[in-house]
Amino acid sequence: MLELTKISKIYQTQGETITALDAVDLTIDTGEFVAIMGRSGSGKSTMLNILGCMDKPTSGHYTLAGQDVSSLDDDALSKIRNDHIGFVFQGFHLLPRLSALENVMVPLRFASPAKQRGGEERAKDLLHQVGLGERLHHMPNEMSGGQIQRVAIARSLINQPAVLLADEPTGNLDSAISQQIIDLLVSLNQGGQTIVMVTHEPDIAENAGRTIHFLDGKIIA
Ligand SMILES: Nc1ncnc2c1ncn2[C@@H]1O[C@H](COP(=O)(O)OP(=O)(O)OP(=O)(O)O)[C@@H](O)[C@H]1O
Ligand SMILES: [Mg+2]
Repeated sequence: MLELTKISKIYQTQGETITALDAVDLTIDTGEFVAIMGRSGSGKSTMLNILGCMDKPTSGHYTLAGQDVSSLDDDALSKIRNDHIGFVFQGFHLLPRLSALENVMVPLRFASPAKQRGGEERAKDLLHQVGLGERLHHMPNEMSGGQIQRVAIARSLINQPAVLLADEPTGNLDSAISQQIIDLLVSLNQGGQTIVMVTHEPDIAENAGRTIHFLDGKIIA
């Protein structure tokens, strides 16, 4: 489903050239759960941002669900992003004045009409699925960190993305709550959701079907 060929990302900053990704080849199939590991600065987030069409490679080709996205302009990329990509970040980024249900529904505003249909019912179903069926109308300041992260995961799935991308989804959580979040990702994957997750923690990565290790912008294992 995701195919990257010789993807490089080069940053130029005051006289310095940083090769964040160095001719990376990577294929991820539908239904896979892939973990990305590697030390700080090795290119993991850069990779995830390119996979999520949040950022463009300097060179190389990227095909997402059959479409070559490497040459698309910003408008076309944001459309792909809204329709095909779900994102979960380490800091939860819920909107503080909206309830759990309203937060989950925010991405519907940017989706195609076909995806908007039935959105509220889907949002409720997702909140049930992540164990928050009793918390639909709670505000972010009335929920725990793990509950907020589960709302963020439900939100990332509202537009039925082809792939869920998660950058350190358990990074701010204690270990019991981290396990709940990882169990949720595993069960979503068992339901067919394709997932790519960046993590520093080997015991979190172990839950994925495959782990890719980055070093200095290259895949080393
Ligand atoms: N906007 C930018 N401008 C210049 N350099 C950047 C930029 N973004 C990232 N880099 C550099 O690219 C390299 C890869 O960064 P990246 O954020 O992908 O690392 P990472 O593996 O996610 O690290 P961490 O584990 O700390 O999150 C780093 O050397 C970083 O300093
Ligand atoms: Mg990072």
